[in-house]
Amino acid sequence: MFIYLDDAMLIKKIRCPKCNEIFTITGDSGVNIKVNCPVCGLAGKFAFPAINAKQDNFAITVQNLKKIYGDLAAVDDISFEVKKGEVFAFLGPNGAGKTTTVEMIESIRQPTKGTITILGRDIKNSFNEVKSKIGILPQEFHSFERLTVRETLDYFSKLYDRRADIDDIILTMDLKDKSNTLYKDLSGGQKQRVGVAISLVNDPEIIFLDEPTTGLDPKARREVWEVIAGLRKRGKTVFLTTHYMEEAEYLADHIAIIHKGKIIAEGSLEDLINKHGKGSLLHIRGCNSYEIIDTLKGRGFETYSQGNGNISVKIEFKERVLDILSILRHECVEYSSIDIRRSNLEEIFLALTGARLSEAT
Ligand SMILES: Nc1ncnc2c1ncn2[C@@H]1O[C@H](COP(=O)(O)OP(=O)(O)OP(=O)(O)O)[C@@H](O)[C@H]1O
Ligand SMILES: [Mg+2]
Repeated sequence: MFIYLDDAMLIKKIRCPKCNEIFTITGDSGVNIKVNCPVCGLAGKFAFPAINAKQDNFAITVQNLKKIYGDLAAVDDISFEVKKGEVFAFLGPNGAGKTTTVEMIESIRQPTKGTITILGRDIKNSFNEVKSKIGILPQEFHSFERLTVRETLDYFSKLYDRRADIDDIILTMDLKDKSNTLYKDLSGGQKQRVGVAISLVNDPEIIFLDEPTTGLDPKARREVWEVIAGLRKRGKTVFLTTHYMEEAEYLADHIAIIHKGKIIAEGSLEDLINKHGKGSLLHIRGCNSYEIIDTLKGRGFETYSQGNGNISVKIEFKERVLDILSILRHECVEYSSIDIRRSNLEEIFLALTGARLSEAT
């Protein structure tokens, strides 16, 4: 009969320092146990790593992470958490520290300082336990020029014990028509989709995508976005680095803005707009009356002149739009056009750093 082991129970392979025998032990997280080597009998102790119950909700936690290169703090004491099942966007300009951070989480680079856990395991000691649960699309990804899409996926799939169904991946990535095409003959967007497909061959729980749409035309970018949205629907956690604010706005549940190695703002798009943005502005263009600015101010509206008869009025809640329109009508003000614009990530980045994200990249 099979014996049920509690979910919290950890299984570890250890090596006896005396006779080199490798054997398996089990125990609960955070517990010290006595161990005897089954071959030579050497007695010792083993401490199982503690798994914080709070971390059950988190795919990734990062605490006080730092990476120093000479005089440069490429990543400068950052902390954040990625919830299971969310798309987490790490947004920042060139050189902000995105790849350095993501590659430390992937255990490709060693942190100077800090702690990283993936699925509750401290990767310093236990990366091998989570390695099979992550998928990676590196920045500036390239694959074998002379393998077809299917051959490429077969090749990468064989590197893992745990394998997803290749046909399923090909369908999900919308690559069925191209499955027998050589990688070198694919378009940029198709190549990126192959990259995402490769990151899925081991059916990972967490997928790291480092700038998956850089260099793609708007149509190909949209296609990759739909793929990423589809991964989220299937319950995957996606860690996305990007310098496209529209990408973060469209895809992310949670956004961390990184600038010069530091996280300067973090939250959902709504959180970021509420905290750092100007809210919504009603723009009245080609207005024939300057007195209306004082009238609107007198009625409690935050109103700015933008020159050339253009006026902006802050809207706290949408019902106020009707009030403004009825004041314009009552005062017989004429104007050429009117539109409402909500703060976006570009404005937030500008407000926080003094630079435009699109110019900083
Ligand atoms: N191996 C290294 N040695 C020295 N400096 C490095 C090294 N790797 C990265 N850096 C520096 O660290 C900083 C952060 O680089 P990183 O590649 O993490 O930025 P990024 O946000 O991914 O930028 P991009 O959007 O251009 O990919 C940069 O100033 C870079 O020059
Ligand atoms: Mg990078």
